[in-house]
Amino acid sequence: MLRMGLVGLGSMGRGHLTTIEQLIADGADIKLVALCDIDPKAFGSVEATLNLEGMEKADYDFSKYNCYLSVDEMLEKEELDLVNVVVPTYEHSTVACKVLNKGINCLCEKPMGISLSQCQLMIDTAKKNNVRLMIGQCLRFDGTYTALKNIFESGELGAPIGGHFYRGGSAPAKEWFFCREKGGGGLFDQHIHDVDMVQYLYGMPKAVSTVGRVVRPGSGYDTCATNYVYDNLCVHTSNIWVSNEIGFSWGFRADFEEGTVILDHNGFRAFNKNNEKLDIKPVHDKSAHYAEIKYFIDLVANGGEDKINPPEESMNTIKLALAEMASADNKGAIVTL
Ligand SMILES: NC(=O)c1ccc[n+]([C@@H]2O[C@H](COP(=O)([O-])OP(=O)(O)OC[C@H]3O[C@@H](n4cnc5c(N)ncnc54)[C@H](O)[C@@H]3O)[C@@H](O)[C@H]2O)c1
Repeated sequence: MLRMGLVGLGSMGRGHLTTIEQLIADGADIKLVALCDIDPKAFGSVEATLNLEGMEKADYDFSKYNCYLSVDEMLEKEELDLVNVVVPTYEHSTVACKVLNKGINCLCEKPMGISLSQCQLMIDTAKKNNVRLMIGQCLRFDGTYTALKNIFESGELGAPIGGHFYRGGSAPAKEWFFCREKGGGGLFDQHIHDVDMVQYLYGMPKAVSTVGRVVRPGSGYDTCATNYVYDNLCVHTSNIWVSNEIGFSWGFRADFEEGTVILDHNGFRAFNKNNEKLDIKPVHDKSAHYAEIKYFIDLVANGGEDKINPPEESMNTIKLALAEMASADNKGAIVTL
């Protein structure tokens, strides 16, 4: 049985705690041993604030776990096989490297980092210690986006023509998200999911052009729209991070020579070029986070190549996001990669 730790019990960390407890209830061969947060209040019974599935109004029995206020102390005292790092983005590299340097496998939340040097350090540290690092680019594990990826791989709808990927609405409460150097704003925090999906599905583009708007002073671009330059594909994304008064919306439309795949408020649908609805469904109905954590546990337990989400690809996602930010800084100028 693998022994697991969880660092960071904010909005997302509490969501992960719920998910890990569900995985254990469903029979995953892990024991959640230790929790860590630098803020003692994090161990109080505060409700999770994310409006994502399965994450509302969670109260926890923290007495089941060894609780720490310092990651160094947790790593010193506990024998762990894997640690889930869910701290603010500007701390990802530091905390993940502490875990990796102890010879412990690390699943770290997205975005991988704010700079390429942070990302490279994480990859090098994992290699040096011969342990696994995976970044929580959770759309790669979502049932709908995985069904779309399978259509790309199988070629059943022919060659891709292009696509539009979007998300919007749900700005978080904490200030660090709106600091360009700490959270990177909506471009780095929320839009990063679609950036990752673009390179996962279509490969790295040759260049990007992004227009963005800073809504909160000091932030990275809270709202942005990007065109990705490929030889023969029209791919674009948009992100809005202004208010969460009307909730969170996201989706895509991906066109192929032989059909179209859509995810919107009506759900996931695929059509052939005669407008006939195809019998293609999401590959599972679990949350993306559930599937992601399960995948990482299985990878640590069984070994083998990470064919879905290697950290080098997460670093490419940061490279793309930085290019988008540079383009937005210059009012949509083309930035080559
Ligand atoms: N995959 C997703 O869909 C998704 C969704 C939301 C957030 N996230 C990511 O999760 C991360 C955390 O986001 P959040 O909303 O939970 O933030 P948050 O600010 O609500 O929580 C962060 C927690 O980490 C603790 N912390 C800070 N530094 C620490 C350290 N060195 N050691 C231990 N604990 C520390 C804080 O006290 C806080 O409780 C971010 O990188 C964010 O981008 C991912």
